[in-house]
Amino acid sequence: MYQIIDGRKISQEIKDELKQQVAELKAQGKSICLAVIQVGSDPASSVYVGNKKKACAYIGIESLSYELPEETTQQELLDLVRKLNADDKVNGILVQLPLPGQIDEEKVIQTIAPEKDVDGFHEKNVGALCVGSRGYVSCTPLGIIELLRRSGIEIAGKHCVVLGRSNIVGKPMSLLLLRENGTVTICHSRTQNLKELTRQADILVVAVGKPGFVDDSYIKEGAVVIDVGIHRDENNRLCGDVDFEKAAPHTSAITPVPGGVGPMTIAMLTNNCVSSVQ
Ligand code: GUN
Repeated sequence: MYQIIDGRKISQEIKDELKQQVAELKAQGKSICLAVIQVGSDPASSVYVGNKKKACAYIGIESLSYELPEETTQQELLDLVRKLNADDKVNGILVQLPLPGQIDEEKVIQTIAPEKDVDGFHEKNVGALCVGSRGYVSCTPLGIIELLRRSGIEIAGKHCVVLGRSNIVGKPMSLLLLRENGTVTICHSRTQNLKELTRQADILVVAVGKPGFVDDSYIKEGAVVIDVGIHRDENNRLCGDVDFEKAAPHTSAITPVPGGVGPMTIAMLTNNCVSSVQ
């Protein structure tokens, strides 16, 4: 029988721990403030931003909302980011991605002050992760490490195969698994003999952005499978990059979609906000 890794339960535990820490910080006269910027009104982004603000409120983090119109120029957004960089009341800045086409995402990310980059996207924070020094780490991969840790799944010495090489998930995921002493293989769209590699994984992290891409034929019997994808299927139901029904019986543990990795991303964002004042 396989274990379903309950991201909702684990994220709730983390949020309750953080709530306690924030209460203690407040007792010392310290408050935490996150600025959340959304450009345009993409429905999925609105849901994510709403959930992030809700989690902040639960924990006791103040959030400032900036909802900018779709036609916002790059200059306007950069001006706002610079203003928030200079504002001592603001501890963290989050610019929800994706941004509209007229705005250079990379330029915006690199303009956020690294010490307020609670998403961990700035190259200074990515570099810190790479060389093992202190910095913010991208929330989704950090959440996955926490899911594994709190589920009692050992990483050290395990063959960890990461499917996907994005800046937000695949690359930082690989670095974090390496930091935890995993043996890491990164696979991507140009990888040859993909199944040969994924079938060697003790821990398989799937972040390919394709609904149901991974079925049982990609999985070694008893592997741990982490599904980062989130999509709507033809019946408008949420589904992941992994075909859960086919894959799950061959795993020892697997994350569901929804209720697996997703809630952890938000828990880790609030974790990064709390560490911004410690
Ligand atoms: N869009 C999708 N995931 C994320 C995330 O973790 N942070 C931000 N800022 N935007 C996203």
